Amino acid sequence: MCGIVGYVGRPGAPGAAAGGGAAVALEGLRRLEYRGYDSAGIAVVSEGAVAVRKRAGKLANLVELLDADPLPAAHTAIGHTRWATHGGPTDANAHPHVDGTGRVAVIHNGIVENFAALRAELRESGVEFTSETDTEVVAHLLGAQLERTGDLTEAMRAVCLRLEGAFTLLAVHADAPGVIVGARRNSPLVVGLGEGANYLGSDVAAFIAHTREALELGQDQVVTITPDAVDVVGFDGAPAQGRRFHVDWDASAAEKGGFPSFMAKEIHDQPQAIADTLLGRTDAGGRLQLDEMKISEAELRAVDKIVVIACGTAAYAGQVAKYAIEHWCRIPVEVELAHEFRYRDPVVSERTLVVAISQSGETMDTIMAVRHAREQGAKVLAICNTNGSTIPRESDAALYTHAGPEIAVASTKAFLAQITACYLLGLYLAQLRGNKFADEVADVLAQLHEVPGQVRQVLDGLEQVREIARYMADTRSVLFLGRHVGYPVAMEGALKLKELAYIHAEGFAAGELKHGPIALVEPGQPVFVVVPSPRGRDSLHSKVVSNIQEVRARGARTLVIAEQGDTEVEPYADVVIRIPRTSTLLSPLLAVVPLQVFACELATAKGLDVDQPRNLAKSVTVE
Ligand code: AGP
Repeated sequence: MCGIVGYVGRPGAPGAAAGGGAAVALEGLRRLEYRGYDSAGIAVVSEGAVAVRKRAGKLANLVELLDADPLPAAHTAIGHTRWATHGGPTDANAHPHVDGTGRVAVIHNGIVENFAALRAELRESGVEFTSETDTEVVAHLLGAQLERTGDLTEAMRAVCLRLEGAFTLLAVHADAPGVIVGARRNSPLVVGLGEGANYLGSDVAAFIAHTREALELGQDQVVTITPDAVDVVGFDGAPAQGRRFHVDWDASAAEKGGFPSFMAKEIHDQPQAIADTLLGRTDAGGRLQLDEMKISEAELRAVDKIVVIACGTAAYAGQVAKYAIEHWCRIPVEVELAHEFRYRDPVVSERTLVVAISQSGETMDTIMAVRHAREQGAKVLAICNTNGSTIPRESDAALYTHAGPEIAVASTKAFLAQITACYLLGLYLAQLRGNKFADEVADVLAQLHEVPGQVRQVLDGLEQVREIARYMADTRSVLFLGRHVGYPVAMEGALKLKELAYIHAEGFAAGELKHGPIALVEPGQPVFVVVPSPRGRDSLHSKVVSNIQEVRARGARTLVIAEQGDTEVEPYADVVIRIPRTSTLLSPLLAVVPLQVFACELATAKGLDVDQPRNLAKSVTVE
């Protein structure tokens, strides 16, 4: 989720910036800081050359560099804030990236899925890389195309046809002052339409200070902007149209993509978070590859136990993954709260794989548990959303989620991305250890690739849930029941309601109800029940329907999450919330979404700050 800014202006024109391109780019990057980033940079075209300044860390570091070594005056500039995916947050990995001549500069948001093959091809041709990024591959490909065509637009089109994955690209060329070329596939790009100046941005926040007239680019389109013209073509070269719109949002709303909160925006970012986490995980033959893991195949084959360590929502992701990994790999999986694991004498050995799940990578409880595990001789794999953070740095290997920066304190898109990454790990182990044939792995991967669309379907049908949440704004206690993979979903649903709406909420394993918690049920008690697919393991569904009857018989108000077509739940449900059909093991990725939206909407109805709930921090960096 990098931040992208582009500016071209006619000197002295009404819309042109007084401070020149670098100042406009820097100001745009400041408006994109909310997106979270770990490095930043700017490139300008001036006097027949491209000049670049870039630094790891916050914008202040870039400003310090610009003060010491200013960019030349220019009216063509591109700026970038990077959220590291391929390669840590370093000066060298910061964008913009240039080709070997230094005469074309590129910035990028997204993931080039086939960058490894392209990198190898370029190396073969003698290219020497200066960074670990997928973006630098694009810079060299553009440079090579420019030698052939001399035209930046044509060069961009030709390069885009070779790229796979999700990308927004901006490029400038020393021989083309006053021109920026952009391209997008599966990643946003908008044009800001000014007078004597035009802008580009990953979202309107980049240029809303200068113009509210915008043009949204469509899939597989290339745009060429000059101070007085905007021209759009498809990757195939045919003329194309973007979607013209007027930006009604104020600057604050622009940062949230028009949503009322980062929490709401990030819930709706979940399809993209899952899709991006799945990107680049298979080789040309379709076999799963997790080459960033850096634990040898021999060591992974020898693993005889997996221990997941995490806190809060991340721990619930681990609990969901337990069911899948044990089923696919036949390896025992324990899920431990990191702060508990830290203080006991766990039975681990060099054949234990400890999986540390963390969005921030800075949770002190989990850091201390990682250190404890390594002291006990275990191999540690981090599943993390923040490249270069402490937990992956102190682990033996890392598997990164690509959910993008999660701004809201309560975790949503990171949760789904963590489950997705855990499933990739489980499938990889099953493939490596021979528990699953390649076609079986491919089948599950195909189902996973359908999940973003299914989550989108769930999100598009939740007005019922929002109405219920507003109606229940005064409720003081809600119970959540689930069985099998539905149990950690129930726990996560309860946690969301606690941390967003400050309501007593408790998640239970549905089978545990009769062992005590059912005493809590009194007439009118709201109870959410996460129902497994009736097409799954037969006992699961019928048992949970019995649990619904048990609480309904005692006057509970039952709100049931069930797959489309499951009619058996209807006689016992006051409310049925439908999710698309999917396999039992993948259903948590869908079933949790209504619970996230319920908690967010109820908290909003109570007038609470859903992005920064009381008493909470985004990353708990103390034990
Ligand atoms: C999630 O909504 C909470 N904010 C919290 O439980 C969080 O998941 C936990 O603190 C772990 O954080 P981490 O993933 O950054 O390690």
